[in-house]
Parts: sequence; C-alpha cells; structure tokens
Amino acid sequence: DPQISGCPFSSASGKQRKLTGRGNADWWPDALQLDILTQNGKSPDPMGQDFDYAEAFNALDYNALKADLTALMTDSQPWWPADYGNYGPFFIRMAWHAAGTYRTSDGRGGASSGQQRFAPLNSWPDNGNLDKARRLLWPIKQKYGKHISWADLFILTGNVAIESMGGPVFGYGGGRKDVFAPETDIYWGTEEMWVDQGAGTRIDPDKQLDLESPLAAIQMGLIYVNPEGPGGNPDPLLSARDMRMTFERMAMNDEETVALTAGGHAFGKAHGAKPSDTFRGAPESEAMELMGFGWLNDQDEINQGHITTSGIEGAWTPNPTAWGGDYFRLLFKYDFELVHSPAGAQQWQPINPDPEDMAPDARDPSRKVPTMMTTADMALKMAPEYRKISERFRDDQAALDNAFARAWFKLCHRDMGPKARYLGPEVPAEDLIWQDPVPAGSAPSDNDVSGFKSAILSSGLSTAELVKAAWASASTYRQSDHRGGANGARVRLAPQNGWAVNDPEELTRVLGRIDALRGNLSMADAIVLAGTAAVEKAAHDAGFDVTVPFAGGRGDASAEQTDADSFDPLEPQADGFRNYLKTKMSVKTEDMLVDRANLLGLSIPEMAVLVAGLRVLGANAGNSKHGVLTDRPGQLTNDFFVNLLDMKTAWKTVDTSGDEEFVGSDRASGEQRWTATRTDLVFGSNSQLRAVSEVYAERGNEAKFVNDFIAAWNKVMNAGRFD
Ligand code: HEM
Repeated sequence: DPQISGCPFSSASGKQRKLTGRGNADWWPDALQLDILTQNGKSPDPMGQDFDYAEAFNALDYNALKADLTALMTDSQPWWPADYGNYGPFFIRMAWHAAGTYRTSDGRGGASSGQQRFAPLNSWPDNGNLDKARRLLWPIKQKYGKHISWADLFILTGNVAIESMGGPVFGYGGGRKDVFAPETDIYWGTEEMWVDQGAGTRIDPDKQLDLESPLAAIQMGLIYVNPEGPGGNPDPLLSARDMRMTFERMAMNDEETVALTAGGHAFGKAHGAKPSDTFRGAPESEAMELMGFGWLNDQDEINQGHITTSGIEGAWTPNPTAWGGDYFRLLFKYDFELVHSPAGAQQWQPINPDPEDMAPDARDPSRKVPTMMTTADMALKMAPEYRKISERFRDDQAALDNAFARAWFKLCHRDMGPKARYLGPEVPAEDLIWQDPVPAGSAPSDNDVSGFKSAILSSGLSTAELVKAAWASASTYRQSDHRGGANGARVRLAPQNGWAVNDPEELTRVLGRIDALRGNLSMADAIVLAGTAAVEKAAHDAGFDVTVPFAGGRGDASAEQTDADSFDPLEPQADGFRNYLKTKMSVKTEDMLVDRANLLGLSIPEMAVLVAGLRVLGANAGNSKHGVLTDRPGQLTNDFFVNLLDMKTAWKTVDTSGDEEFVGSDRASGEQRWTATRTDLVFGSNSQLRAVSEVYAERGNEAKFVNDFIAAWNKVMNAGRFD
C-alpha cells in the first residue's frame, strides 16, 4: 500500500491550492446567482431560526411514515418504472450515496444535511439517476412536511427498503436537519473534469500519486472507487487497494467494507443499456423544462429499461429484490470472464451459469439474463484479505447479517455525533465505540464551583497554562460530524495528551494539578472551569468586572470508551488560535485558521476576538511570543488589535521562515518590537478582517472586546455538548 499521509490538506504534488477547491461557481458559471440574496447574513432557510426540528420530528407519526414508505417500494410510476417492480434497491443506493461522502479527516460530507439535493452532488456522475429516486419520494416528503427532513428521509427510506426485502437492520436515528443551500465549506478536489469526462485517478503508486487528504474518493465525481477498476483498469487487486484506502477514510475496516459492498449488491442491478452519450446531461446543467432532471432519454426507452447510469449492466444475483446469500454463492461458484456491457463498460460475467443462477430481466421477469460482478466486486474474491472475510460470510449467513446491519447503521449515522443527538423510536440501546460515548455527568454545586475556582487560581498555575488546557480540551470539536469537544475529557487520554500542539509535558502537569484539586467535579468540567476562572481573572486584572459563564455537567470518558485511532484525524496540523503549524500545508496557513474556525462553528468576529484574546493570554503552542502584541501579557485586553493596527510598526518577513514568520519594528527607531505569524498579520492585511480588527481596536470598545471574547470562549467551551 502507498504511504497515506495523515495530514489534512497535504498534497502529493506540493502545489498550493484554494481552501475549498473547485466549487459550483467553477462548474456552473452561468448558474442563478442566489447567493446575492444571502448577503448580510440573510438565511436561505424558509423554516426560520426558531424552527425546532427535534420537536417536529418527535411529533412525527413514525409508523405511518414507515408504512407509506413500504408501500412506495412497489408503487411503480410510469415516468420511472421500478426494476422488478421494486424501488427498494434504487433507494438503498440513494441512501448509501447520501451517507458515503463522509470522510474522517475533517468530518465533512455524509448524510446529515441532505446535500444530495444540491450541486455538485446532485450532478456527480456517481449519483446518476438518483434525481429520480428523490423525486419518487416527494409525495411522502410533502405529506409529512416539517416532521421529516429530506436528510432523515433519505436514510429512513434506505432502511425501510432493506427491511421490506427481508434484510437485517440494526436501528435508525433521526435528527438530520435540512439546509437550504449547497454547503460551500467542503473541499471536493481541484480537478477540472468529472470521472466521466476523463478526470484522472488520484492514486497511483507508480506515479507517486497519493490520495490527497481530506478526499475519500478516487476520482472527481465518485463517491468512492471506480467500479470498473482504477482509472477503468479492470484489475481486482488494484481495485482492492483503492477500496481499502477510500473505505478507511470513511471509518470502515476490511470486514465492514466487504459486508457493506456484498450486502448492498444482494439487491438491485446496474444500468448500462446504451452508450452514455445517448443520454442528456446532469441535472444542474439541463434545460429548464426538464425541471431538475438529468440523464434522460425517451420515455419509450425508459419503459423498456434502456437506462444507463454507471454503464455497467446487470444484477448481481438471481433474486435482486430479496436478501440472502446468493452474492457470495455466485461469486465463489463460478469463474468469471471480462466482458463489455452494451454501454461499453468492462464487467465480469459468470462462465456457463446454471439456468437457476440467471437473473430476471428488470422489465420482463419471464426473460432470463446473465448476472454480473464489477471489478470492485471481484476484489472481494481475488484480494487475499478480502477473500478470507468473504469466505467466512459465504459460510455463515448470520455473521453477514450482523456485520451488514451494523456497518450500514454506522455508515448512515457516522456523521451525527453523540447518541444524544439521535431521535425516534428505533435508536439502538447499545452504545457503539464510534459514537465516542461519554457517561452522563452531573452539574456541580455552586460551592464546589467556587471552591475549585479559588483553589485553582491559587495553585501556582499561570493564566496561560489554565487557558491552554481548557482550549486544548474544548477546541477539538468539529461541527462537521459533532465529534470532539471538552465533554468526556478525552484531552487526558491518548492520543490527545500526546499531540504536539498540546505541549504534552505542560499539559500533563497542569491536568495533574487540576485532578488533585477538582473535588466533586468531573475532570471534563474542572478543565473547562480552570480555564474559565483564568479568563475571568485576566479580565479583572485588566480592570473589567465581568463574570465568565460556566455550565457544568460534563462526564469523563474512559480509555475503554475511546477508539484512540479514530481520534488521530482530530489532531490539528495547524491551529491559528494557538499559533501552531506542524508542517506547511497545501493551503495557506491563514486558510487553515479559517477552516478550524468553520469546524468550531465560529463567525468572523468570534474568530477574531478569540485569536486576539488567546494571544494576550499567552495561549500559543510552545509558549512562543508570536503575536503576543501586548506589554501586559496575562491581562484580557484588546492590545492585540491596537498594536497590530498601529502605524508606528512596520512589518518584515523573516527570510528563513518560508513566508510564515514576521518581525515588527518601530518605523522611526528601527527597534524590533514584535514577532508574528501569518495568522496574526492576516488580521491587519486582509481587508475584511482588518475591518473587524478596527472595531475592536477603537477607543470605547475595550469592554466590547472583553465581552465578545467571553461569549466566544463560552461557545467553544460548550461546543459538542448535547446533554
Ligand atoms: C448499484 C458500484 C458499494 C448498494 C451499484 C452500481 C455500481 C455500484 C456500479 C450500479 C449503478 C447503476 O448503474 O445503476 C459499487 C462499488 C462499491 C459499491 C464500486 C464499493 C466498492 C455499495 C454499498 C452499497 C451498495 C456499500 C450499500 C450498502 C448498491 C445497490 C445498488 C448498487 C443497492 C443497486 C441500485 C439499483 O438497483 O438501482 N453499485 N457499489 N453499493 N449499489 Fe453499489
């Protein structure tokens, strides 16, 4: 296997790129410019700010919805007839592709906001014809309205499809709130072509091409791998390599990968009846009268089943609408030969199949047609590690049932965060390690809180040390998949207690003192409260009589409750809030700050006040002096902004720093005053950030700065709490 770099944003080519890569405006420059209506913070969400989705979901008639979905499976519509009279397999693919965009390294993608409705996902070649699947669901979405989001409906429909065809299901949790615009913070790659237009493969050890992090798909426009094999090369072993890398990036091991792929392909068929150039384009670029549909041909052709989606043609099993063990039975019973589908795709066909192992035709069950395997399916037989698992599942249906049900549940819920966020009557009681379980905490008494505050402030630990520990604990949170955060106090466990950004020796010492003094408080609460007390003291020392809010009740997770490896991707490779850069990235260091601020759910002013406040409090990793633009460190002041914007200082690059470090000197005397990094100077050099910095540097806004810092601090300290 090629070396996989764990760094988000690392790129094999070493070239610099835009943070968000190629986006909708690049793909569709002529698209309607609706974003001008969202200027000045105007939301595109018609439900309004006060809409409480959890409340609406809890009032849903869940059983009635499931019954309607079950009936829909076999309610074939003339405009898009169901293969075998059953939409179940089609809906499973829809749900799988909704969830399958998730990637561990930044937690983005996944099913949780219903993004499949919007570009670019609605037009990705790999999502071909799923526009029809979503439209088939519209009458049900319309009927249940606000009580079920599209995002929840996609996954529930997949579950009901599996159940209705006799497949095993582990559970369902709702709670995915819809958004009403394409997410713009997800990097999908920089290529200027889709997979079907010739986008190259992203991994090729011969060419020293490595799959760029955070991406988890092999070519632009795919969910994971190319079914025909890497770059269209029908080599099952190379396909296994691609599968392992991409599935790993969405938190699936070999067993889960085999169970999911084989379990999924127990159902349905692939579509490759005609060359794809006989079909119209993807939805986002198609003519208005098609009303959001793409990939169409004549209705006559559709009626006859002449549909091309992937270009591969045929079912995997003789029973494409029933769960069972036929997939592995056929995979191992026959030898396969490479053939071309009518659309020209390479696929594998069993040699001399017995008549009972032929599949029904999708429109005419009395006709029998050959089954097929994709190159990716063949990997499950040909690649030695996959083969062992496949043979076990072939011989033990109950093991496959269990593995498929669990892996499907994980696939569909992986980006929802703690179980406390799941809604509905089918949430499994069992705690799963990938949910990062945290035992319930209890709110400490006022006495405990005030006692600990005075103890920790007279413990000899500095403001900087306490602030740093609290920030290290809380700032791992990412709103993309709701992982991380101070709850659970995982900062005291591996791997977080060893991350370089956390200054491990100092952290261990500080946490040891906190632990010794915390009394009845949970460690998670005590870490936050220690930092919060230090911020309050720093404000008092600067002359501001303020209270920094604290809400206790966090629990402490144990090492057994922590899948340590799964926390590796949460390690910051750059953290502008602590002026930390592990290695130079393929995006600018200030882009990394914006990216982190986004994952923390922060606004621009919140990002600005936090950087400025953390600098003067001395929270830099390695206790560096970069950006500590104050003569009174440890006091919570707006000095960072005041000194950054001071025209008396002139800035120069430190030649050896690769444009990462700067020195500020007195314009008149030439005397060196400050040092700083890109994430400091960007608040003076970028026009938009400068505008915000000016507000906080203005006379009369000293207290506003302190208050806004405290509000943003409090937001981060409570991020990731759903208790
Ligand atoms: C269909 C590839 C994993 C469920 C397909 C098709 C391809 C494909 C090429 C045909 C699409 C069409 O032309 O209509 C792959 C590859 C995978 C993979 C390469 C991973 C290496 C999965 C997983 C699931 C799944 C994990 C679900 C657990 C399905 C279903 C269909 C399908 C149900 C049939 C859809 C229909 O009948 O319309 N897949 N797939 N696949 N896939 Fe997969």
